[in-house]
Amino acid sequence: MTQVIAMAGKGGTGKTTTSALLLKYLLKKKMTPVLVVDADANTNLNELLDLDVNTTLGQIRKEIKGDIPSGMSRDQFMEMKIHQALIEESGFDLLVMGQPDGPGCYCAANQYLAMTMDKLAENYGCIIVDNEAGMEHLSRMNLRTIDHLLILSDPSARGILTARRIADITGPLQLDVKARHLIVNRAPDPIPPALMEKINQAVAEAADMPLAGIISSSDELINQELSGDSYLRLSEDSPVIQQSFSIFDHIFS
Ligand SMILES: Nc1ncnc2c1ncn2[C@@H]1O[C@H](COP(=O)(O)OP(=O)(O)O)[C@@H](O)[C@H]1O
Ligand SMILES: [Mg+2]
Repeated sequence: MTQVIAMAGKGGTGKTTTSALLLKYLLKKKMTPVLVVDADANTNLNELLDLDVNTTLGQIRKEIKGDIPSGMSRDQFMEMKIHQALIEESGFDLLVMGQPDGPGCYCAANQYLAMTMDKLAENYGCIIVDNEAGMEHLSRMNLRTIDHLLILSDPSARGILTARRIADITGPLQLDVKARHLIVNRAPDPIPPALMEKINQAVAEAADMPLAGIISSSDELINQELSGDSYLRLSEDSPVIQQSFSIFDHIFS
């Protein structure tokens, strides 16, 4: 069965960073092939993976509004189009959603896309969805079940309660979320006991969002981003990889 792992959290909390770290983890654990979906309109996950994007699903959606070439069924045409947008790498594919249609557009093109995405999803061991704060893309893609929702927060009580509200967006979208995991990111190292106490209080108050772990503020991440080198090439000895991998061990155990 394909496991769907989606990110939630307000802007700048580390959703894209965590998506890249998780991909590195899943590749190492051979939980492959992985489909990585960049569902942020201001796409940048590809940059952390040092990959170029030529075509987005948004661009393809525009094309399929036109006629289908003769001699091809709509399904065949859709599959061909989606494959054009897939960036195929060793162990994973990257799909960039790009700009969405206007609000409330559930036109035929979207429906065909959703149907084709359903079939595509079956080819993968895991799907990572890097969201922007809203999660409309998930329902557009027909991903109704999320096995693991990773909710990112900055290291503050207020941040955690905001994260809780963002995670609740999944309710109205009628997504079935099997498990939620809070990850507190960019924490000071060591974490002051008073802050840890606040975090624990907020976690208790938030309910149904257990703390999966804490990732410290990391110079290595900042330097890797500046260098433009892929996050997949971060050293396994680096503290940020060790911290995040032990969080993922906990989540996928
Ligand atoms: N643990 C961390 N240590 C240092 N910088 C981080 C850490 N996590 C994220 N960042 C930086 O914070 C910025 C926002 O992170 P990003 O993953 O893009 O957030 P989001 O996708 O939630 O908007 C990026 O520049 C990223 O490099
Ligand atoms: Mg992002």
